[in-house]
Amino acid sequence: MGNGIAQVASRAGYDVVMRDVSEQFLQRGLQAIDKSLQRDVDKERLSENDKQQITNRIKTTTDLLALSEAIFVIEAITEDENIKTNLFRELDQIVPAESILASNTSSISITKLAGATNRPDKVIGMHFMNPVPVMKLVEVIRGLATSNGTYERVKALSEKLGKTPLDCQDSPGFVSNRVLMPMINEAIFTLYEGIATRESIDGIMKLGMNHPMGPLTLADFIGLDVCLAILNVLYEGLGDPKYRPCPLLKKYVDAGWLGKKSGRGFYEY
Ligand code: 3HC
Repeated sequence: MGNGIAQVASRAGYDVVMRDVSEQFLQRGLQAIDKSLQRDVDKERLSENDKQQITNRIKTTTDLLALSEAIFVIEAITEDENIKTNLFRELDQIVPAESILASNTSSISITKLAGATNRPDKVIGMHFMNPVPVMKLVEVIRGLATSNGTYERVKALSEKLGKTPLDCQDSPGFVSNRVLMPMINEAIFTLYEGIATRESIDGIMKLGMNHPMGPLTLADFIGLDVCLAILNVLYEGLGDPKYRPCPLLKKYVDAGWLGKKSGRGFYEY
């Protein structure tokens, strides 16, 4: 999702530094940006020159210190609480004191990430949806100490990126994944229990509920490891057995079947 966020920020006219842990991941991100922008060039909604300028405004680096002048940081790393907390601690030392540290986390506590910094009032959740260039929502999550000033700045930025910000309080899964993931998990249970084929489950939800994708296709698209991580946050954070991840989901993740990104999930890619 990081490359999608970099793309929409650059498209809105911001200078962007896209940081990842390896050159290989950065190249993959740039390729995704190129492919996404090319769709708009092909549809004559973007000129070749504008595409070049959007790409040129994105600098890439593996060095966290390259963010030392960032006025706004949007973190979109792996959904692991320890790794995220450590990154927030490091970022807090590097970026200017008045800068905002936002997280694109899909379920991890903003209050906890803020607690790792000396600026909890300037830490906030800025949860984009996949595919970032297409989806209009930014779910804005207020941590316990997030100030109204920070919220207003994030709201204004989201609107400048062409998105609609909708806010909620910090709670496991926030609103989006607290509602979405139980549906996906239940779809996996229906497959696990042999109630229907993957095609039937997806077709029933697509045609019957007018969803753009069936829940199993959507899970593959999001990443099965991400779905499992979010369900675990809901299960542990809310302490309710109704969020128990389906054993089939765990098995697929153990097998490395992570969905579209790994070439196999509920479907083959
Ligand atoms: N970059 C840029 N544009 C893209 C794109 C991308 N990566 N992917 C699709 N598009 C554009 C296409 O160009 C097309 O634009 P147009 O209609 O203006 O010409 C439009 O999106 C529709 O694309 P397609 O016709 O190729 O395909 P679909 O009609 O099947 O749409 C989809 C694709 C938008 C992905 C649609 O299937 C969809 O909305 N799926 C559900 C997505 C969803 O639920 N996302 C939320 C996931 S949850 C999440 O992200 C939170 C996390 O915490 C888990």
